Amino acid sequence: MIRRNLKRIGILTGGGDCPGLNAVIRAVAKTAQNDHGIEVIGILDSYWGLVCENFNVLTNADVSGILNVGGTILGTSRMDPFKEGHKRGLLPSAEEDWGYVRRLLKRHHIDALVAVGGDGTLRVAARAWEAGIPIVGVPKTIDNDIHETDQTFGFNSAVSIVMNALDILHTTAMSHHRAMVVEVMGRTVGWLALQAGVAGGGDVILIPEIPYNEEIVFERVCERSRIGKRFSIIVVAEGARSAKGKTQYSGEMDQSGRKILGGIGRDLGDRIQEGTGISTRVTTLGYLQRGGPPTAFDRLLATQFGHAAVGLIVEEQFGQMVALRGNRIKAVSLEKATTRIKSVQKDNPLLAVARSVGTIFGNEKG
Ligand code: F6P
Repeated sequence: MIRRNLKRIGILTGGGDCPGLNAVIRAVAKTAQNDHGIEVIGILDSYWGLVCENFNVLTNADVSGILNVGGTILGTSRMDPFKEGHKRGLLPSAEEDWGYVRRLLKRHHIDALVAVGGDGTLRVAARAWEAGIPIVGVPKTIDNDIHETDQTFGFNSAVSIVMNALDILHTTAMSHHRAMVVEVMGRTVGWLALQAGVAGGGDVILIPEIPYNEEIVFERVCERSRIGKRFSIIVVAEGARSAKGKTQYSGEMDQSGRKILGGIGRDLGDRIQEGTGISTRVTTLGYLQRGGPPTAFDRLLATQFGHAAVGLIVEEQFGQMVALRGNRIKAVSLEKATTRIKSVQKDNPLLAVARSVGTIFGNEKG
C-alpha cells in the first residue's frame, strides 16, 4: 500500500556513535526528497531530542559532504527520554508517555520516524511501534550484536581500525620481544575481537562467548618464545572473562544506567607478565575504534540501509528494521530483532579457520 499523503518524516540517531551514521542520514534525506518529495526532519540527540522537540529540517544541502564523515551530525545520546522527562517535569505521567510523543509528532506534522541505532535504540523503536507510532529501524553498532541482520553498519570500519592497530602493534612487539595485549570494544559479544583478531593475525583471541583459562594463555606465550617467535599478540574483548574470573567493569555507568565495561586488558597484561616472566604491554584502543571515516563497505551498507528505510516508510511497513541478508537488503521485524543479542556461536566457521592458522581462544591448547 502506498501512503500518498506522506509529507514529513523524522530521523534520529541513538546509542554509541559509529562510522556510517552520516551516510544513513544522507541517504534517508536524499531518497526521501529526491524520490518521494518528502521533507526530512533531523531530531537532535536521539529520543531525548524528540521529547524536547529539538528539530532541524534537513535539506539536500545540509546532508551534502557528510558521506565520508564519522560521527553523526544529529548528535546522539543514551538518555532514557521518559525517565529524564519525568524528572524535569516535561512529561505528564508514565501512562501518557507515548501519547505525548504521538501528539508532538502530529503538531510538527511528522508522519513517521526512522530510528538509527543499536539494541537500546531499536528496543525503544519496537516499543514505539507497539504504541502505534509509525517507525522503522536501521541497525548500527561496532559490536555487530543485532539479530536478524548479517551485519550492522559501523562494524566493518571498527574491524578495519583494530586490524590496522594490530599491524602497528606487531612491529613494536616484535622489536622488543614482548607480549602485547590489545583490549577492544564489543560489550558482551566477541565479533569485533574475533574478526579483527583474525584479520590482524592475533596469536590469542579472547571473547566473552568462550571463557578462557589463563594457564593456557601463559603456555602459548611461553611456547612461542621457546620456538623462537619473539612476540605474541593477545586480542581481548572488553567483555571477555576467564573461566574463574568475572566480567570487568570500569566502575562508571553510561547515560542509560548500564555499567561500562573495561579493565580486562590491564588485568590480563599484569597476569601474563607475572605468569610468564615475559615483558608485556597493554593497549586499550577505546574510542579510536568508533571514530573517523567509514570504510567503503560501511558507506555502501549505510547508504543502502537509509534508502531501504525510506522505502519501508513509503510502503507503510512500520515496525520493521532494514537488514542485510546475504547481499540483499531485507525488512525484518523490529520486535524479533530486539528480543535478544546476537553472539558468536561455538560453531562459527571463523573459529575453526583461526584455530587452523594457529590462533587459540584460551579454552584449549592449539
Ligand atoms: O555499543 C558500542 C560501544 O562502543 C561498546 O563497544 C562499548 O562498550 C560502549 O559502546 C561504550 O559506551 P560509551 O559510549 O557509553 O562509553
